Amino acid sequence: MDMEIKIGNTTITLQQGDITEIEADAIVNAANNHLWMGGGVAGAIKRKGGKIIEDEAVKLGPIPIGEAVATTAGKLNAKYVIHAAGMGTDLKTDEEKIRNATLNSLKRANELKIKSIAFPSIGTGVGGFPLDTAADIMLRCAIEHVKKDTSLENVIFVLYQKDAYKIFENVLGSLKR
Ligand code: APR
Repeated sequence: MDMEIKIGNTTITLQQGDITEIEADAIVNAANNHLWMGGGVAGAIKRKGGKIIEDEAVKLGPIPIGEAVATTAGKLNAKYVIHAAGMGTDLKTDEEKIRNATLNSLKRANELKIKSIAFPSIGTGVGGFPLDTAADIMLRCAIEHVKKDTSLENVIFVLYQKDAYKIFENVLGSLKR
């Protein structure tokens, strides 16, 4: 079921499932810029990984909207959680915020010299942002980033619902042509 494309030494993969179950060097959290962890991805990461993640993150906040910071991954199967602030505490997001949060998460991954990173579809839950536009923004960012020199060998997009997976699959299919 998992779709993947290869770009240079990096594989970009789509998976349907729960991001907290993924084994990767970094799991990206769909965060607000104060870094407290509410529901959705953040709630799942906090539940599975432990409150230690939020305690460390909140100390680093607030960060500029669109920025990203790394913390411990607690009990998750990962080295880091990268908190990508796709919105402020008004929980409103847009193209630019999602693009910057994705780009800055990829920058943190390079700085940490990690090999694999898992993204959720940032902004598309509480943020209410359309999945197809988020897919286009995030996948284009990932494709452009891995064309340059990067430590990343695997970039995984983890979609919770089947319809979200299908939307990302269609967009990736059109981008790889
Ligand atoms: N694994 C993968 N994807 C998930 C999971 C999960 N366990 N849980 C939810 N999702 C999906 C949602 O279905 C949605 O498509 O992740 C996408 C992002 O949803 P949110 O987590 O609500 O993130 P976002 O819309 O960016 O809102 C972030 O919500 O939970 C608060 O603290 C968080 O303030 C922040 C805001």
